Parts: sequence; structure tokens; C-alpha cells
Amino acid sequence: MAAAGSAVGLGNIWKFPYIAGENGGGAFLIVYLLCVLLFGMPLVMTEFLIGKRSGKSAYGAFQELSGNNRWQWLSWLCMLTSFCIMGFYFVVTGWCFNYLMEAFVHVPSGLNMSDLSSHFAEVSADIPRMITFSLIPIFLTAAVLWFDVNKGIERMSKTLMPLLLVLMVLMAGRVLMLDGSNIGMRFFFQTDFSKITPTVIMEAMGQCFFSLSIGMGALITYGAYMPKGQNVTRTSIEVIVLDTMVALLAGLIIFPAVFAFGMDPAEGPQLVFVVLPAIFEQMSFSWFFSVLFFSLLCIAAITSTISLMEVAVAFVCEASHGKLNRKKSVLIVAALVVVLAVFNVLSITMFNISDEVTACIMMPVGALGMAVFVGWFLPRNGEKGVLDADKGIKRWAQKTYIAALRWLVPAAILLIFLNRLGVFR
Ligand code: PHE
Repeated sequence: MAAAGSAVGLGNIWKFPYIAGENGGGAFLIVYLLCVLLFGMPLVMTEFLIGKRSGKSAYGAFQELSGNNRWQWLSWLCMLTSFCIMGFYFVVTGWCFNYLMEAFVHVPSGLNMSDLSSHFAEVSADIPRMITFSLIPIFLTAAVLWFDVNKGIERMSKTLMPLLLVLMVLMAGRVLMLDGSNIGMRFFFQTDFSKITPTVIMEAMGQCFFSLSIGMGALITYGAYMPKGQNVTRTSIEVIVLDTMVALLAGLIIFPAVFAFGMDPAEGPQLVFVVLPAIFEQMSFSWFFSVLFFSLLCIAAITSTISLMEVAVAFVCEASHGKLNRKKSVLIVAALVVVLAVFNVLSITMFNISDEVTACIMMPVGALGMAVFVGWFLPRNGEKGVLDADKGIKRWAQKTYIAALRWLVPAAILLIFLNRLGVFR
């Protein structure tokens, strides 16, 4: 459940609809689902297995398993990716907290879309306000890591995640009753194959890595905490199915509403922050539902930021060889993240670059490294063998898993990169 908490977050509810909207809706969806099948299963399993077998975080795991330092660059890449993601992720979480507060006091944000759109522009350009709201989740995340209350958070998300799902189903139901919602359904589900360009494929791959939290070591940490008898294959499937369901539901809510309200689906990162308040205006008990939804969204974001920050904290703590204890490491990382978040508030260019480069380049490169590491360089069985870390896995599944890791995953990532660079044109 904790790993599902890491996976389910703003990636599903904020990023998925806006990236899908910019990349042709149905054309994007089909490529995205293919990416989840192709990359999701082998790579989520790989990170869990690396963690479970080594018992270490992304800092120590590669060294522990390989017995040398040649794979240490992967730990560095994980740490760097974690910082780059946190820089913009906390800003978006800040937007969520801002909208939660507004839902509470019910700031009349206007009924028509252009009012809502300019309200978002105003809010996001208000620098002191945005910095303040980004500090709240940074502080909360650091506090969870400082007091080591991960367990409590896990228990909390166990009950709140199903609640988020139920609420989203309700919202989708309401949105589907709006006039014109069928155009949105068509946009989201109808595949126009001519719209599948190299960029769409690259964006879908990036979104898949980002949404499933793969390629930067977050899931390695969770693997390290897994009890001995835990079935890794089943856990991986559960995380992937839950994450994909939330993304699909988000699409089912946003796109019908976008068309019913006469908006442009390619609006960009502000898409859901303009559409969601408009949806709540259409619902009865709008105050109750909007407060509930934004609360759950903030919690979903925090369960993701905990896993993000943990990668950096473990790195700083362990790389200092005991000179910095955990609490000091939390402070150092949090201080650096505050600086990064401020830069991301001040510069939309930095925000966009971090958002794009982490998902489409850094995470795929990290995942490629891990696939090659486990597929080609580690023994399969025995004391260091990753496969023996999962007792539940059947022989045919083992074979498929290893083949995917050795050939399919690396080849697909490389081909998608080359294709995007125009090599095949
Ligand atoms: N998967 C998270 C989300 O969808 C984001 C995330 C990425 C979390 C990488 C941890 C590591 O919001």
C-alpha cells in the first residue's frame, strides 16, 4: 500500500490529463497503456527485487549486489532525479494546498472558464503566496521523515486511497451527465493512429515512468522494507493496476468536462486546476465535495513526496558515512528543496524543463541502467540472485521477466530515444 501511495499522486490526477490532452487524447492513451504493460511490470518488479535482495536504499543497493563501485553512477542519478522532481512537484503540491484552502473558505472564483483560467494565472503568478504554499508540503514531508512516522502514513493512505477512488467515480458520474461530455469521451477513447508521433511515444513513456515512480530508486526503498515472504509479482501487479485505474478515472473526469465547458484539452499544466473547480460548481454539496477532493489530493501528493524525499535523504545520510545522521540529512535535503522550489516558482522555464527532462530522459535512463544491471550483470539465483528474492514467481514468469529485462526493455527505451531524435525519418 505504501508503494501504491508513492505511485498514485499528482502524476495521475494532474499530469496524466494534461499530457494526454496535449498529445492527442486517444492516441496517447493507447501508447501509454502499451508502455505500462511493456515497462511497468518488469521495471516495478526490478526495483522491488533490487531493494528486497540488498536490503538497502538506492544509495547502497547497487554496490551491495554488484560487489564493486562500477554501478554507483546509478545511485547518483537516482539522487539527482529525486531533487529535480521535488523542485517542481512541491510547487504543484503547493497549488493543490492553495485550492484546498480556497475550497474551504469558498473564494468565489467565478463560474465561467475564462474567469477560472485567469484566477489560476493570478494565483500562480503571486510569488510570495506560491512560495508559502510550496513550503507547507515540504515541511510536512520533512516532518514525516524526521519523526519516522511512515507507518502511520501508510495506515492512513490505506483508508483514504479507496475513498479517493470512490469520490472520483462519483465525479466521473456527474461529469458524464453534462451536455457535450460525449465529445470528451470520444477524444479520450478514440484512437486516431495518424496522431501517434515520435513525441507522443516519448511523452507516453515518460508519463509511464513518472506515474509508476520507476527509474529513480523510490521503489528500491520499499523493496528493502518488504517482509521476507512477500510476493513481489503480486505486489507489482497491484501497484500498477491501482495506479492505472486512478489515471484512467482522472481522464474520465477531466476530458468530458473539458469539452462540455468548451475548453482546449491542450491547455497545459493548469488544465485540471481550471476544470476541477468548474466541475464542483456543477455538483450539489459542492463545498463538501471540493474540500474532500482537494484534501485527498494533497494527501496523495504527500505520500508521493515522502518516497521522493526519502531517496535523497538516504543518499545524503549514507554517503556521509555516518557523519550526518538521519535528522541532519532531512534538514539538509529539505533546505536544498526549498531553494529548488523557489527557483521553480520564479521560473516557468525551469519548471517546464524539470517536468519534461525528469520523466522523458532521467527516469528512462535510470531504468535502462537498472534493467541492464539486473538482466545482464547479476546472477539470477543464489545468495545474490534477484529471482530468489521472490518465492512466489513461477518458472515461466521468471523466464519472461528476464527476457523482458535483457532485451525488450533496453531495446524499447533506446528505440524510443532514437525515434524521437529523428533517426528513423
Ligand atoms: N508517481 C508519483 C505520482 O504519480 C510521482 C513520483 C515519481 C513519486 C517518482 C516518486 C518517485 O505522482
